Amino acid sequence: MDNKTFARFQELIYQKSGINLNEGKETLVQARIGKRMRALGLNECTQYLRLLESNQGNEEWGFFLDAISTNVTHFFRESEHFDFLKKILNVSIDEGQTKFRIWSAASSSGEEPYSMIMTAANTLNLKSLDFKILATDISSRVLEIAKKGQYHKDNLKNIPVNMQGQNYLSLSKDDYNQFVINETLKRFIVFSRINLSSTPFPMKGPFDIVFCRNVMIYFDNHVRAKLLREIHRLLRIGGYLMVGHSESLSGLNIPLEMVQPSIYLKRGS
Ligand SMILES: C[S@@+](CC[C@H](N)C(=O)[O-])C[C@H]1O[C@@H](n2cnc3c(N)ncnc32)[C@H](O)[C@@H]1O
Repeated sequence: MDNKTFARFQELIYQKSGINLNEGKETLVQARIGKRMRALGLNECTQYLRLLESNQGNEEWGFFLDAISTNVTHFFRESEHFDFLKKILNVSIDEGQTKFRIWSAASSSGEEPYSMIMTAANTLNLKSLDFKILATDISSRVLEIAKKGQYHKDNLKNIPVNMQGQNYLSLSKDDYNQFVINETLKRFIVFSRINLSSTPFPMKGPFDIVFCRNVMIYFDNHVRAKLLREIHRLLRIGGYLMVGHSESLSGLNIPLEMVQPSIYLKRGS
């Protein structure tokens, strides 16, 4: 791919998703869109670029973003966050809180919000509470997987043994290599498509807890700051934000206080 074509891809990706593709990612982009080009019978990257830029390109955008973004995730990834979630839920219940609003802001294929609801079900009596998790992602493809809530058995190794019982999941009836998340847990989660680089978001909040993990690494500081200002607006006072272990808010001038690495508190407005 020549420099000019790569620069145009970079510009388009940034405009549509805030994803900042650094120089030197030409081979990666070429490899990732290669599959789409073959499916469409296109030989040249410039043809694919023209399709994206044309009116007929609208439908292709979803496939393109899926090809470019990384959806890697797993159950109970960065498990300290789920320990902390358990702690906050316990404290809130002791204080008499009965309504909980939690947001998984880049939920990918669902492992993150399902780990949250498993943690909550293991900690609280959800039936007696007004408890909701909003799970969002830019990719409609991963959101479909998330809604289905069906995963290969190999993923069980990441789920604590005390959350593998029938209150949480069961073997799939059509494929014994798969398990499904129980409907009783799924109904606490609403899945929706939200582009984190396009603010303001439609939700009113306030959220008690926001997980925005392993997505800001793909953004530049301009998009990160815009996103974090929105998260700050949507968090209630006393609410928490979790970011990925390799992410931080330093230098972004966001009034959230770090309480431990990758966990932030909104202390005041
Ligand atoms: C690496 S996964 C992280 C998933 C999960 N939060 C975790 O930590 O395991 C990154 C996710 O961010 C999503 N993503 C990338 N750009 C986005 C954007 N502009 N708005 C919303 N989601 C985005 C991708 O589709 C992908 O599912």
